[in-house]
Amino acid sequence: MSSVAITDIGSLVTNDSSAGNGALGIRSNAAIVVVDGKIAWIGDSQSVGVTDNRISVAGKTVVPGFVDSHAHLVFAGDRSEEFSARMNGESYSAGGIKTTVAATRAASDETLRANTSRLVSELHRSGVTTFESKSGYALDVENETRTLRIAKEFTDETTFLGAHVVPAEFANRSDDYVELVVGEMLQAVKSHAKWIDVFCDRGAFDVDQARTILRAGVEAGLRPRIHANQLADIGAVKLAVELDCASADHLTHLSDDDVEMLAASNTVATLLPGAEFSTRSSYPDARRLFAAGATVAIATDCNPGSSYTTSMPFCIAVAVRDMHFTPEQAIWSATAGGAAALRRTDTGHLGLGARADLIQLSAENPIHLAYRPGVQLIHSVHTAEDFN
Ligand code: NIG
Ligand code: FE
Repeated sequence: MSSVAITDIGSLVTNDSSAGNGALGIRSNAAIVVVDGKIAWIGDSQSVGVTDNRISVAGKTVVPGFVDSHAHLVFAGDRSEEFSARMNGESYSAGGIKTTVAATRAASDETLRANTSRLVSELHRSGVTTFESKSGYALDVENETRTLRIAKEFTDETTFLGAHVVPAEFANRSDDYVELVVGEMLQAVKSHAKWIDVFCDRGAFDVDQARTILRAGVEAGLRPRIHANQLADIGAVKLAVELDCASADHLTHLSDDDVEMLAASNTVATLLPGAEFSTRSSYPDARRLFAAGATVAIATDCNPGSSYTTSMPFCIAVAVRDMHFTPEQAIWSATAGGAAALRRTDTGHLGLGARADLIQLSAENPIHLAYRPGVQLIHSVHTAEDFN
């Protein structure tokens, strides 16, 4: 057993309303004691008992580590020209994914591993302590398996997204590709994936195809999540709720019925501010989701096409400025909300028993994450393992 006291926390966000004030459970002049990587005590800094080690953070803010519940980290190639064309008036379409598929198939394991490792380091530096990563840039049996195997070297939250788009060799034969995904491909990848996802949208897979794929994944022991309503509302949110997906992600186009369905379900509404930002799309209004009582997450959607950012603070700032989250809602959604989207209760908060996944911020309070956009406020990032 090893115990560490973290003291002199100017502002501590626990996300546990029984441990502090408001929904974020905030305490000032606080301390926590971590025993074997878990939060074992929360209280006033002057009341900490004896521990093996003691770290003073000298008035800094401490928040739970960010939980990035939606990222596409294993790929090769660059699409900066596509981004540039978009900023010159082109519109975003699902078709750009195929450029990355060609580069990813051609890349060696070493290249893919090095690219992923760089993005994982960036995520960590931006305060992310738990992240999900999807396949979906390979779209054949061998390479979907390969990219998931590499993703699993970095995270247990791996997602099979063989149904990202229909690859060129299956043009006009999308049902044949669905057959491959639910058959040979699913069997090959299933031991490397925890989740299954489908891009259910205009230009990708329709609702019936998505239902077939997600059901097959569940049958094979994977858990469902979905890319929904990014480009158009084709009924993907309804499907997400029907299948009890852990999360429906993007939600750029949301009807009132979609909002009500999400609020009445166990499906987390995950918004991806980087995607609207980088595709210059109009932002969904989070106030509708909060007013209805939905559980909301924010994630980076890090990918080379629609959102090439690993910065959760950037996503928080955009969510506040352009999606009308309050700063408190955005911080909760990037931490506890992300954990809910991965159906995790052990992280995303700093309540008693939680993993000591935490960020020290060089800031007076957590609002600074949105108030000081683009400024490096992250002083240091720890995961539970650092305290063992
Ligand atoms: O989540 N929307 C589908 N997939 C990715 C984008 C993929 C790409 O453009 O490469 C996303 O935004
Ligand atoms: Fe995505």
